[in-house]
Amino acid sequence: QAGEWAYTEKLKEHFMSPKNIMQGENTDEFDGVGMEGNLQCGDQMMVVIKVDRDTEVITDCQWKTYGCASAIASTSILSEMVKGKTLDQAFHISPKEVAQELGGLPDNKIHCSVLGDKALRAAINNYYVRNGMDDKVKQEQA
Ligand code: FES
Ligand code: FES
Repeated sequence: QAGEWAYTEKLKEHFMSPKNIMQGENTDEFDGVGMEGNLQCGDQMMVVIKVDRDTEVITDCQWKTYGCASAIASTSILSEMVKGKTLDQAFHISPKEVAQELGGLPDNKIHCSVLGDKALRAAINNYYVRNGMDDKVKQEQA
């Protein structure tokens, strides 16, 4: 339809004013760093987290991407969703939940939206490895 966007208001809002964008390239102040890329298109995503060691609660989540509107909006809302969650809870947030929070995503954009949660899971695993908890490293879920 002419003059109609395929995106929800919520998605457009997060695309226009994304939350928790990482400033600069310095990852040193973070406790976990995750990178994810889609080999076919070359899009990349970085997610970094700060973690309270005693409770394993995520206190900060920032990100940066060179992907599209769906990747940006999904990761923006995801970065808000994970704050205050434990690493384990955050690891199990599904792409479906993220899409629901955005009020839906175009089908052909789902593969872009998963860059964020994949990078988040990589960051969580990175935190475990850095802290000698290799036994907690979990494999990517479907
Ligand atoms: Fe490349 Fe969506 S991230 S088109
Ligand atoms: Fe690259 Fe969607 S086109 S992740």
